[in-house]
Amino acid sequence: MTAQIIDGKAIATQLQSELSQNIAKERKNKERAPGLAVILIGKDPASQIYVQKKISACAEVGILSEAHRLDESTSTDSLLSLIDTLNETPHIDGILVQVPLPAHIDPNTILERIHPAKDVDGFHPYNLGRLAQRRPLLRPCTPYGIMRLLSELNLPVRSLHAVVVGASNTVGRPMAFELLLAGATVTICHRFTKNLAEHVALADILVVAVGIADIVPASWIKPGAIVIDVGMNRINGHLRGDIDFNAAKERASWITPVPGGVGPMTVYSLLKNTVDAYNGVHAYYAK
Ligand code: GUN
Repeated sequence: MTAQIIDGKAIATQLQSELSQNIAKERKNKERAPGLAVILIGKDPASQIYVQKKISACAEVGILSEAHRLDESTSTDSLLSLIDTLNETPHIDGILVQVPLPAHIDPNTILERIHPAKDVDGFHPYNLGRLAQRRPLLRPCTPYGIMRLLSELNLPVRSLHAVVVGASNTVGRPMAFELLLAGATVTICHRFTKNLAEHVALADILVVAVGIADIVPASWIKPGAIVIDVGMNRINGHLRGDIDFNAAKERASWITPVPGGVGPMTVYSLLKNTVDAYNGVHAYYAK
């Protein structure tokens, strides 16, 4: 079997153009455009690229963005005070702090300070809790984007066995909640999982989000599985995922490439969350 390649870039471009038209329509009834503040601390090269992509995408759809590029030595207190200001700034609907943060800053302290109604990354415990309880509001961007990819392609999820490899707060855990919400039977594998190969072999839908190339060899993949690769590894200057794409596409029925698979959908989800925040998706959240 040779898999169909999931063109995340083309799907995200299409969805972005629909979002852009919606924003233009809504603007007729509103005084201002949606606004997003992006905070980047330090000079991590991958983060610089991600942030640039997010800012360019905002401009393409009519979201006003402002970038706060702060020095590596920024203190926790000054970052918290910037977040406090942005929480109170009316024309800012969304606040995003790019992770990873420098080692001296505790990400949990920072992410919890963002008002849940402006938490367009969906990382605040309130938003994650809402997703866990099947009442999502603002949803973590990568898992949300993956679910949208599957639904755009009319790929089934309900009653299938989904296996998520990687249990991070940003991807693996919310991914499992999303799949559960969509009716899958979900297994989460992580660094303490024994017999990873046996779990992977049962996956009708396999999501790999570890950040280690070849953590899942293609030979483990169940023939006909839907394979979603969230990994981003730079090997000898070449970008690739966690899975050996060429080998895996001979076993899977559908597969995402890296780049051009999940990444553009993460950016789309951020734009969608920002517009949802602008439209008051959290309106009934107690201030
Ligand atoms: N770093 C890698 N992915 C993400 C993301 O989706 N959001 C933020 N804030 N940082 C990231």
